[in-house]
Amino acid sequence: MLKILFYDTKSYDQDSFERKNKAYPKIQIDYMKSELNPSTARLAKGYDAVCAFVNCDVGTKTIEVLHELGIGLILLRCAGFNNVDIEKAKEYKMKVMRVPGYSPEAVAEHAMALALVANRRIHKAYVRVRENDFSLGGMLGVNFYEKTAGIIGTGKIGAAMARLCYGFGMKVIAYDMYPNPELDFVKYESLDEVLKQSDLLSLHCPLTEDTYHLINRETIKQMKDGVILVNTSRGGLVKTDDLIEGIRARKFFAVGLDVYEEEKRNVYEDRSDDIMESSVTARLLSFPNVVITSHQGFFTEEALSAISEVTLENATAYKQGKVTGNEVE
Ligand code: NAI
Repeated sequence: MLKILFYDTKSYDQDSFERKNKAYPKIQIDYMKSELNPSTARLAKGYDAVCAFVNCDVGTKTIEVLHELGIGLILLRCAGFNNVDIEKAKEYKMKVMRVPGYSPEAVAEHAMALALVANRRIHKAYVRVRENDFSLGGMLGVNFYEKTAGIIGTGKIGAAMARLCYGFGMKVIAYDMYPNPELDFVKYESLDEVLKQSDLLSLHCPLTEDTYHLINRETIKQMKDGVILVNTSRGGLVKTDDLIEGIRARKFFAVGLDVYEEEKRNVYEDRSDDIMESSVTARLLSFPNVVITSHQGFFTEEALSAISEVTLENATAYKQGKVTGNEVE
């Protein structure tokens, strides 16, 4: 029996995993609401593995505690792994496994939804019409048809977004160090050119030392006036203060963010009774052309089902000493 302690579990995670776990009688899962961090890591005593999600702290200290407890496997039920100290895990011969590409379309479709909602001010229209206000002032949008979409990072999600943009009749350009040969309708350009030419700019590269604050005062200056920016990748890609400065300077026609710096305390929590400690999110929300969602790009039935399936396959492969390609090294 492989015993796994799940951290940061919501009812929808548990429902999805319970459905799949029936087919894996040799895996026992216990679910906890707490996030994984150096203090809660101690609760994994007696388990073989832990399972964490995007906002868990799987840094050096957490890994040290898990190692002391004899945990050999960290299962990430997500694609990104910027919250894990991979070197430390390697040093302790601890395996880290993730779920790459569980449903690239789920995230890409959300990116397109954000672009459309922010562009056509659907968020405002929804509230207005509910109040019997059928006026159109402040809601003028732009066509996507025949405009230029710039995709930064054309891996699985970026490629899916490129296909959607192409379907909208857009010219699609992209920047990636490794051009995707399947995207024969995409013209690869330098980052500078993508920034300069795009009417819709969508971020799909991972958060690394190189991409941290990729969108900053300087790169914003390079963009077209009236650009629409969408970030469904990681908050750290965008330097929020510079973004706010750009929004105030009327640089952006619209901005759609599924991820943002300082999201950590908010994401997946109902904080409607709290007085918020961060003014950054509140400032972003004060702009009429900004739409924010709560890191929900992944949140479709298909994606949840694939996440559960692959996570359980990862656990099984670990137990059998098999390599799947989902190891993070
Ligand atoms: P992927 O690994 O398939 O593709 C990433 C692409 O980015 C690769 O082609 C890589 O060459 C490129 N890249 C790396 N560094 C770059 C740079 N400096 N400039 C331009 N391109 C660069 O990853 P996938 O599955 O497409 O996911 C992308 C990101 O989406 C993940 O890293 C994760 O942060 C985010 N994500 C967000 C979700 C959400 O719910 N909002 C859900 C899943 C992933």
